[in-house]
Amino acid sequence: MKNILVTGGAGFIGSHTCLVLLEAGYNLIVFDSLINSSSKSLSRVLELSGINDFGERLSLVKGDIRNFSLLQDVFKNSKEKGMPIDAVIHFAGLKSVSESITEPLKYWDVNVNGTRILLDIMQDHDCYTLVFSSSATIYGSSQQMPISESADIKPINPYGTSKASVEQMLSDAFYSNLYPLKVACLRYFNPVGAHPSGLIGEDPLGIPDNLFPFVSQVAIGRESLLRIFGADWNTPDGTPIRDYIHVMDLAEGHLCALNYLEKNQPQIFKVNLGTGRGYSVFEVINAFEVATDKKIPYEIVDRRKGDVAVNYADISLAKREMNWYAKRTLNSSCIDGWRWQLSNPNGYK
Ligand SMILES: NC(=O)c1ccc[n+]([C@@H]2O[C@H](COP(=O)([O-])OP(=O)(O)OC[C@H]3O[C@@H](n4cnc5c(N)ncnc54)[C@H](O)[C@@H]3O)[C@@H](O)[C@H]2O)c1
Repeated sequence: MKNILVTGGAGFIGSHTCLVLLEAGYNLIVFDSLINSSSKSLSRVLELSGINDFGERLSLVKGDIRNFSLLQDVFKNSKEKGMPIDAVIHFAGLKSVSESITEPLKYWDVNVNGTRILLDIMQDHDCYTLVFSSSATIYGSSQQMPISESADIKPINPYGTSKASVEQMLSDAFYSNLYPLKVACLRYFNPVGAHPSGLIGEDPLGIPDNLFPFVSQVAIGRESLLRIFGADWNTPDGTPIRDYIHVMDLAEGHLCALNYLEKNQPQIFKVNLGTGRGYSVFEVINAFEVATDKKIPYEIVDRRKGDVAVNYADISLAKREMNWYAKRTLNSSCIDGWRWQLSNPNGYK
């Protein structure tokens, strides 16, 4: 396997993964609408990899995954150039829980229909290896902690439903036995931090939906106050507990998943990528304050629809099957995330 199509590769997790894949020797085509990202992330990835220009080992095609003919052309052109696409890493999609509640059909269209189109085209071109960005959101308010992959899939918001539906669609396609599919559904917990260079990181549009970018934007003065959505949850300090995973650990998880699929028989492999340890919102604020020497002012507001109290991963399957585990700490996520924020106060703008 040499040539990888990375949908959504200009985004937060995608850009860090592109760097890891380039360093591992892969050639990449990034297919991204840039609706929630900037091509600058990829220019910085090239800079970090010591590659001079787009087109050398990484090219960018700006387009929407629902654009059937454009995506077909990408596969066709690669074949004609003698560099057929061997595998796809599929990050492209929408990821806001709150937006999915107000605009659910958009999530069905982009996340579910978009993946169906991608899968159709992959099959047309005999490309059967797919790494899909799933999410711990599919577990909903599971009572079992840590959550293992065998827990019930009971999403409680349309975003989670869209990810669970894609997993189901991929399972159906696999069990049809029509194609020798090799699929890994990577169930991410909460990706945070940034590359230690401070050159690439998370750059959300508008007020961040997730805790980490919100905390760092308050620290840098872009937002005045952190909003904590409920301090009356059934947890020791009343704030929700999540499993925060450094984005570089996550990026390396994709490389391990590709290696795993390459070495093994066709299958659908569903696996958690987390640290196995949960932290509350107050613990994260404290860790961030210690790492950055900044005070984070906050206010407690109503709970958000679609949130759960506690969510952290059972990580034994990833360790056993892919020999992957998270190596970085919450402290290094805070330090690296803050370095990115300080050097890029307005993100890539
Ligand atoms: N960040 C998280 O907390 C998290 C957690 C679990 C799962 N995920 C999933 O991981 C994937 C990547 O997340 P991220 O945090 O890097 O998000 P991101 O928004 O930074 O990256 C997604 C990329 O996909 C692109 N995109 C969106 N819709 C597209 C479309 N229709 N066609 C082509 N490109 C499109 C965006 O421009 C962006 O570059 C997403 O599928 C997300 O649902 C993210």
